[in-house]
Amino acid sequence: MTARLAVLGNPIVHSRSPEIHGLFGEQAGIELSYERILVPDGEFAAIAGEFFARPEAVGVNVTVPCKADAWRFAGVTSDNAEKAQAVNTLRLQADGTLSGHNTDGAGLVADLINNLGWQLQDQRILVLGAGGAVRGVMANLLAQQPAKLHLWNRTRSRAEALVSAFGDKAQALPVDQLETAYDLVINGTSASLSEQQIALPASIIGDGSCCYDMVYGAEPTLFNRWCLAQARCRVADGLGMLVEQAAVAFEIWFGVRPETRPALAHVRKTL
Ligand code: ATR
Repeated sequence: MTARLAVLGNPIVHSRSPEIHGLFGEQAGIELSYERILVPDGEFAAIAGEFFARPEAVGVNVTVPCKADAWRFAGVTSDNAEKAQAVNTLRLQADGTLSGHNTDGAGLVADLINNLGWQLQDQRILVLGAGGAVRGVMANLLAQQPAKLHLWNRTRSRAEALVSAFGDKAQALPVDQLETAYDLVINGTSASLSEQQIALPASIIGDGSCCYDMVYGAEPTLFNRWCLAQARCRVADGLGMLVEQAAVAFEIWFGVRPETRPALAHVRKTL
């Protein structure tokens, strides 16, 4: 039997998920087919419903802009998906219901700790942005017990609304109250995608700061280039997060957690 998988989103043509899961499947000895499915506006439920009606459907990944639709579509949802109000992985269960999960936060934390060797516990962390990408990772970051987690967003009310869901564990700050030289700065805005500079003081980055852009590309992202221009910091992009969130999804579908380094090396080489 060939396990049938797909990634749903819009745009979808550049998704690397088919290759990543193809490599995981080879590694685990699981035969699978993995398609990219474009979801026109407002058609998520119809398209996902049709996919899961096919024989041998096992699960799907869900990407921008369909994660909130997938959250509403899932029959049961994990804690993480509830906190994020977003689902990036659906799995067809034996009773015919769909379980919804969010593996983005686990993927980010795995990349930071296991691949990059960066610390989160007791660290002073600044997260930039307050959209879906940030909401999806907040719970996992806080679970690592940072000393503090500050959130800055261009539109401050969105940052305030987001942190209010996490009690007093995170603070939304205006730009003039940001601290200097954070241990870790995570860019969860979409600014790098449009090559836009984020208006931030250079003082947030210090020598030794670790700077992570959730966006990735063949060249260093604009945010990472900006960080490197401020201090002797370390930078990384979000390609590792992409591969790690895929590994967690694969485990949800098949019960096996794949080794991620070969897939990460492959996608890095072919960016
Ligand atoms: P996503 O689901 O990818 O997070 P989103 O919900 O549209 O997408 O959120 C995009 C995030 O990037 C927001 O935090 C946005 O800030 P606003 O809430 O003020 O719009 C942020 N963003 C996008 N372009 C930016 C820029 N040039 N400077 C700073 N923040 C930017």
